[in-house]
Amino acid sequence: MESRARPLRFFHRGEIREISGLPVTTTVLQYLREHAHCTGTKEGCAEGDCGACTVLVGELDSQGELQLKNVNACTQFLPTLDGQALLTVEDLGTPESLNPVQQALVDCHGSQCGFCTPGFAMTLQACYERHGEAGTRPSRQQLADDLAGNLCRCTGYRPLLDAGERMFELPAHHLDRAPLAAALKTLAQDPPLHYEAANPAFGGRTDRFDQPRTIDQLATLREANPQARLLAGSTDIGLWVNKQFRDLGDVIHLGGVAELRQIRRQALNGAPALWIGAGASLEESWSALAEAVPALRELWLRFASPPVRNAGTLGGNVANGSPIGDGAPALMALGAQLLLRKGSRQRQLALEDFYLDYMKNALEPGEFLEAMLVPLPDDHTTLRAYKIAKRYDSDISAVCGVLSLTLDPATHEVHAARFAFGGMAATVKRANQAECGVVGQVWSHATAEAAAAALARDFTPLSDMRASSGYRMQVAQNLFRKLWLETRPSLALAPRHASVWMAVSHDDEVRA
Ligand code: FAD
Ligand code: FES
Ligand code: FES
Repeated sequence: MESRARPLRFFHRGEIREISGLPVTTTVLQYLREHAHCTGTKEGCAEGDCGACTVLVGELDSQGELQLKNVNACTQFLPTLDGQALLTVEDLGTPESLNPVQQALVDCHGSQCGFCTPGFAMTLQACYERHGEAGTRPSRQQLADDLAGNLCRCTGYRPLLDAGERMFELPAHHLDRAPLAAALKTLAQDPPLHYEAANPAFGGRTDRFDQPRTIDQLATLREANPQARLLAGSTDIGLWVNKQFRDLGDVIHLGGVAELRQIRRQALNGAPALWIGAGASLEESWSALAEAVPALRELWLRFASPPVRNAGTLGGNVANGSPIGDGAPALMALGAQLLLRKGSRQRQLALEDFYLDYMKNALEPGEFLEAMLVPLPDDHTTLRAYKIAKRYDSDISAVCGVLSLTLDPATHEVHAARFAFGGMAATVKRANQAECGVVGQVWSHATAEAAAAALARDFTPLSDMRASSGYRMQVAQNLFRKLWLETRPSLALAPRHASVWMAVSHDDEVRA
């Protein structure tokens, strides 16, 4: 797919912008503040944590409908905007005529120093548009979940939640979607992006940025340039550049490949499964997983925050292979298979065989992750997912344990067990000793204790700033006790009695 280089083209501030000459790793935030002089979008952390840089990115979905997503501009590289629409706080109301979100923030005193306010306004705008489209209203808990990626140091959040409720009480005024959709249709006529620019940070070398549109184009590019960095949602990679000043070199962006973003039900070995494209966003992937396996809902809500989940992908989480990643324990406990692609060749590999060592995986040069095939639990399988972290929202796990048991319905004998842990070893791993300790036994308090004891033969966890080795082992062993209390045949603990979040939120609604 050798194509001539062309400028980036995206819609911003009412027109299609053409950009050349900016380095591939220019972030959207740097472009806004230093080149477009749209300084309403702020920089707080430059690592996806605070939400001060929240913007809306618009694209047409597979049905040609406009989808608006709030993402962090600080971790997104400018070329990923090609073919998309960018909305910033300057696109909301004007000082003379505030839009409902802005007016609600004023009415409810949702701003003091104002540094976080543009980010909150953009996240609330995304919520306002989504619920406006659906004709729904968010619960206060859902507003809190939506705002989990926006930090405010001044207001204490109550006024911001009040503003999230108030904005629906004011005369409705939604974003004008027509010009956005028209511009996106025009941009869709452009050839797939092949962008080149000098990178002054690395001696003026010319870097390539390719954004294929089909999986075959991706496979060809990948085989031709196995050294290129595959870029999905950039929520890991963005920090490599912002914080570690790593050199990415040439980049192949997966975001334009529609096939990679599909999620569908399909059979795997004759049993129901989910096919999750490696490029499907974390939000869409977790939403599909939690719909099929409700026990995963809390892990979904506690995975990063909405702007990170809107940009990041589950495929990126799996491929990144962090030992404290939350995606792999859930997928491993479900028995996920990975579909790996190299040129026209596909192969399937069990997720537990994918990780070779710390941040090392079984991908061959020129190969990429196409999809995750996730078997869905049958009626006799119980699964629980436990994320242990210092903060409830937007925090990296110290330990993540996802425990799956298949019991004989009559005897409660354990027919199968899959116990997957993050945070306990150099990679996410199954606790094989603990599994052997329970299979063939009747599920009981004693069997849970045997699993806890066997765990000490599975792992020798590290101590780091998130947790000590002793704490990790103890809390991981306690998860078997928790599992017993929540699954014992009589007097099983209800989720709201076993989960702080469920107890506090009383929010049993499945998220809109
Ligand atoms: P990218 O950053 O684009 O890529 C990550 C790696 O995967 C790169 O090496 C890339 O080359 C490779 N890659 C991507 N797609 C493919 C593919 N299809 N084939 C082969 N290689 C591929 N993670 C958690 O697990 N739990 C959390 O709670 C969490 N919280 C976070 C909070 C913040 C504020 C941030 C910034 C990150 C957080 N993360 C968390 C980490 C990150 O969001 C996830 O790992 C995310 O899933 C990475 O996906 P991505 O699409 O952004 O990957
Ligand atoms: Fe903090 Fe982007 S600057 S999330
Ligand atoms: Fe100051 Fe939110 S108003 S950080």
